[in-house]
Amino acid sequence: MKKILTIIGARPQFVKASAVSRALKTFSHINEVIVHTGQHYDPNMSEVFFREMEIPKPRYNLEVNGAGHGVMTGRMLEKLEPVLLSEKPDLVMVYGDTNSTLAGALTARKLNIPVAHVEAGLRSFRMSMPEEVNRILTDRISDLLFCPTEQAVQNLNQEGYAGFPAQIHRVGDVMYDSALFYSQLAEARASVFPALGLSGKRYILCTIHRQENTDTIGNLKSLIAVLNTLNREIPVVLPLHPRTRKILQQNNIATEFTPIEPVGYFDILMLLKNASIVMTDSGGMQKEAYFFGKYCLTLREETEWTELVENGYNQLVGTDPDTIEMAFRRNIQKPFSDLHKLYGEGNASTQIIQIMANYLKN
Ligand code: UD1
Repeated sequence: MKKILTIIGARPQFVKASAVSRALKTFSHINEVIVHTGQHYDPNMSEVFFREMEIPKPRYNLEVNGAGHGVMTGRMLEKLEPVLLSEKPDLVMVYGDTNSTLAGALTARKLNIPVAHVEAGLRSFRMSMPEEVNRILTDRISDLLFCPTEQAVQNLNQEGYAGFPAQIHRVGDVMYDSALFYSQLAEARASVFPALGLSGKRYILCTIHRQENTDTIGNLKSLIAVLNTLNREIPVVLPLHPRTRKILQQNNIATEFTPIEPVGYFDILMLLKNASIVMTDSGGMQKEAYFFGKYCLTLREETEWTELVENGYNQLVGTDPDTIEMAFRRNIQKPFSDLHKLYGEGNASTQIIQIMANYLKN
């Protein structure tokens, strides 16, 4: 029996890991232990995902959160090491680009435990983003690199990975697996529509949480200003990240609509499926908009998911209100005539498990 230890801690990782955990259950000779770093801890940022997606209960919760990047990452390293020493996994799995990802990969690497990185090879080419630093460092110390896209593979090749011992596999995107699997369930179980009175109505679905938008007050003010303008025409639904909420309050930035609390996975799927357009600075939501055939305005200057822009499903609009308003008018309810299967066939997690099982045999 082989043991895999999965380290997760932030909202997008719950969505990604759930697909792989589900696929793992079908492999009787691999046992999974889950460690939650505690990075996200509000019930609607964490627990709701475990419940709805039936993610196995973490054996450990390290309760590291609410600190600066260095302190958070350092505390995670300190708390992860004894866990890895006592669990002695054959492989550690990390997801995405958060502080939990880097801390998990680094702890394992220092103990000479092989590391698998799901969502490897993504780059924004902006080193001021904490996520970019986490991605680059995690990729470099991983043994198995699971890339969601062709661009991700190319990024690694450009950085000289052909000469490194790590294995690179393009498997597609585990978030697509999750969206496909849970979309039926969401229809039956989501509660957001009656609660918000949205049935049959047009609306803009928006999320804002990136540091470059929330910590630069000018950017945040511009975004809220344009949302206030658009909301007079078509309602804005803004599930608000706790950090963004705090910063809006501290800076007396007022919305002319009522942002809602962060929603669970079923609700966000339903909100995506029925939206007229999506505006977001989240990485995951850009792809999820595409999965459901919705045009996305990305509230950033660059994206890691460049194939969405190149194929005309997404426009980078930054934070300038005029640019955003113009892009909104051009693209509201723009129907998709063709879906390119940019993120695989919805079987990324099965491929990951098969490759991992082979790797562990050797
Ligand atoms: C993190 C990830 C980001 C990911 C995002 C998804 C890093 C560097 N960033 O950003 O890549 O897209 O998660 O949401 O890891 N907070 C709460 N309740 C919670 C969680 C956080 O109040 O449940 C507060 C924290 O106390 C902290 C702030 O929100 O003050 C930021 O949380 P943090 O996890 O540091 O970063 P995110 O902005 O969520």
